[in-house]
Amino acid sequence: EQLDATGLHVLPGAIDVHVHFREPGYTHKEDFGTGTAAAAFGGVTTVFDMPNVIPATGTAEALAAKHRLASEKAYVDYGLYGLLGEDTIAHVPDLVAGGVIGFKLYMGNTFGNIPSPTTGGMLEAFEVVAPTGKRVSLHAETASIMARREARLRAAGRKDPLAHLAARPAVVAVEAVARAAILSEWTGCRIHVLHISSAEELRPLAEAKARGVDITGETCPQYLLLGAEDYGRIGPVIRVNPPVREARNQAPLWAALASGVVDMIATDHAPHIPDEKVRDDIFTVDCGFPGVETQMPLMLTEVAAGRMSISDYVRWSAVNPAKCWGLYPRKGHLQPGADADIAIVDLARRWTIDDAKLQSRAKITPWHGRGVTGLPVHTLVRGRFVMKDRALVESARGTGRSVHTIQEMPAPRVANPDSTMTEIVRIPAASRGDAATGA
Ligand code: NCD
Ligand code: ZN
Ligand code: ZN
Repeated sequence: EQLDATGLHVLPGAIDVHVHFREPGYTHKEDFGTGTAAAAFGGVTTVFDMPNVIPATGTAEALAAKHRLASEKAYVDYGLYGLLGEDTIAHVPDLVAGGVIGFKLYMGNTFGNIPSPTTGGMLEAFEVVAPTGKRVSLHAETASIMARREARLRAAGRKDPLAHLAARPAVVAVEAVARAAILSEWTGCRIHVLHISSAEELRPLAEAKARGVDITGETCPQYLLLGAEDYGRIGPVIRVNPPVREARNQAPLWAALASGVVDMIATDHAPHIPDEKVRDDIFTVDCGFPGVETQMPLMLTEVAAGRMSISDYVRWSAVNPAKCWGLYPRKGHLQPGADADIAIVDLARRWTIDDAKLQSRAKITPWHGRGVTGLPVHTLVRGRFVMKDRALVESARGTGRSVHTIQEMPAPRVANPDSTMTEIVRIPAASRGDAATGA
């Protein structure tokens, strides 16, 4: 096959570690066919799919069923998350044997009403997952704080879009990240903080990294590019968990990507149909919106504007996700993510995002009408076209494959072995001496 790529740029396909393709259970919103087609149009060649479907992906049977559905329909490669909750701890070995890419744990309530574990349940869950080497991705919002806030706002009659932000102030996420980091440090369980939305979350994340905790983090285009003043313009469609916050959070999130405190950009592609997104009462609007198809154009627009370099973008969209999940090529292995998963893009193409033209079944996003610069023109997965000249390659349906982590097992840990913590609480030698001599 001949391809004239004059004037185009060749990038590694993006790896989006956070998508909800809604199958089985919510296929009126999306399925593996429409979701992975959206990925192909967005220059995304690998996606990690979330377990908040019906039935939730928390048993070996549910996982096997999902693997079948994905393998029949997918245009791009995928990993499947297993659900980690108090009632699925016993299923961890079966889910690992069944090929999960990692686990998802909901610390707070969000779409699908998955119950959040207690801190005790979470500690147990981390203890069981730690020796498997799998990473636990966290919806890091504290359920009990949000429940109280939302009840109070509802009682006061608040229904407007900004009431959603008021119900989930940043402390909700800060408390959750800090607590999760402590449990990770204690157990040695690898963790990943999903959808980082606030400047304040960066402190517990950076502190945990400095202590040597195996913790990674992602932010999303909506947190980098939107702010509280967009609620009026966009309306209820903007409702997402965690909420889009005050615009002052954007610069620290960009800086955290640059410094490596935040490792990557994911989308939290969370499709809902227009009927579910446009309602008078914000608390009844389904949270989330599609993003897998618009991430690369939105971010290439920031490259064009000089906010980051093209190699920054590649590091945050492909290299770091591959490294954090062990998809990175190593000696003797040819890995998904490095085997000709390619986006060929026109960096100069100016166009306007139009919901109606998106591949996603959910034709509604906060990005509708936004002008962007940069367009994926062709997408290849393992060297085969899946999207060519902005058209889906129909014969590529069902050619997407499950990707696997090849990662060294973490060193076994005993409870609280971390010497850096001991350093901090150790009494300085001078004062010890004083005490010993009774001076
Ligand atoms: C997600 C969804 O709809 O599945 N919604 C969202 O607002 N982000 C769930 C989630 O990631 O919390
Ligand atoms: Zn979430
Ligand atoms: Zn999500």
